[in-house]
Amino acid sequence: MEEKRGTWGSKLKFVLAAAGSAIGLGNIWRFPTYTGLHGGAAFVLIYIIAVCVVGIPLLIAELTIGRHTQRNPVGAFRAISPKSKWVGLGYLGIITGVFILSYYSVIAGWVIGYIFVTASGSFKGGDEELIRKIFEIVTANPFIPILLLFVVIGITTYIISRGVQKGIEGWTKVLMPVLFLLLVGLAIRSLTLPGASKGIQFYLSPNFSKIDSLVIIGAIGQALFSLSLGMGTMLTYGSYLSKKEDLFSSSLWVAFADTGVAFTAGLVIFPALFTIQGLSPAEGPSLIFKVLPVIFSKIPGGLIFGTAFFILLTIAAITSTISLLEVPTAYFVDEKKWERWKAALLLGFISFLLGFPSALSMGSVKFLSSIPLIKIDFLSLMDIIWGNLSLIIGSLLIAIFVGWKWGVKNAVDEIESSGKRFAFKNIWQILIKFITPLAIILILLNTVYNYFVK
Ligand code: PHE
Repeated sequence: MEEKRGTWGSKLKFVLAAAGSAIGLGNIWRFPTYTGLHGGAAFVLIYIIAVCVVGIPLLIAELTIGRHTQRNPVGAFRAISPKSKWVGLGYLGIITGVFILSYYSVIAGWVIGYIFVTASGSFKGGDEELIRKIFEIVTANPFIPILLLFVVIGITTYIISRGVQKGIEGWTKVLMPVLFLLLVGLAIRSLTLPGASKGIQFYLSPNFSKIDSLVIIGAIGQALFSLSLGMGTMLTYGSYLSKKEDLFSSSLWVAFADTGVAFTAGLVIFPALFTIQGLSPAEGPSLIFKVLPVIFSKIPGGLIFGTAFFILLTIAAITSTISLLEVPTAYFVDEKKWERWKAALLLGFISFLLGFPSALSMGSVKFLSSIPLIKIDFLSLMDIIWGNLSLIIGSLLIAIFVGWKWGVKNAVDEIESSGKRFAFKNIWQILIKFITPLAIILILLNTVYNYFVK
């Protein structure tokens, strides 16, 4: 028996699920990490430009392809452009989903670990020594990270095996707004810590001389990662969307919510960061895990707020991991006619195994913790390859596909099939056809030139 394809219950439910995919560790872990690594406010500025010039146009493009074809990425490119090489773009998305899931779940696992650490009251005192030790306890031994990875992938697989409506929708509704409120509360505390002004300056007062091609490419990569673009996630979510929904306003809501959460996360992390001795903004993946405990140790009720925060962050991460697993699962269900639960189980298991080296790369295995020659940990390397490069290349090709192969006219017809006029269609056409791909190509060339030729 062929399973009937699911659809979203309503526009609001779709927006919440898409925002659930977008809002996750990308906003609260990755955005501060990259902002810290790339010099602060200059990165934030370029990030916001990247969301507008590259992110939103592509979000509209992916949703449109998805709704038009009602397929997973492979099926979608095949449906619009049969017997062409464009299906390869679909396969790239599927592979990217599995790889991002593998290391993303490791970090989601740390977050779960931090629920217990916080609830047990271990952060009292909150000095730097203690905080480093706690990060090591959760991440630098071989067992705990793998156990937590298993938990994250297990939950994700379970939800995905239950399908679109029952699985994905229910979670996001109530919990995202609560997470956001908690974040705003923490931002207020962080901003009022003595010594916060240094962090505010780092985060909000741009030093334009810091902008180089690495900052720009990092910002574009982060915008794509944060909006779940470039691997067909939004395409797949769009495929469950009914024809009567207004794609454009949905896209704006998702982008607005996503950027708002990321920006607020920065207001939590940076003011507090600069009040801690010996911690640098360029800490890398461990940054938020070292800064947040300090805030929690300094607020009344920190134990409760901290625990609640990590619980909500876990949920935000899970609404993203399910979207990562949904893409390859939809492929096996649509194209190979597999049963949903079988596809989810197999792909979950593969991601679990692929996650091992990332889980072991925070100190437990030396080789993985600082790979010879490149001197970065395996998890960060995965993030550069799959979370940055692959999404950037995927996005470039999606823009070219919509702008030049399928054609903006067809896309606009699909967008307007809801009966509502697409007011910004001229701007969108110019962006997706010229500006978005050119911006990506230029910055890719520039990066290659700077780091390999010069
Ligand atoms: N956007 C998600 C986040 O910010 C991560 C993600 C990337 C999800 C790519 C799906 C696809 O956490």
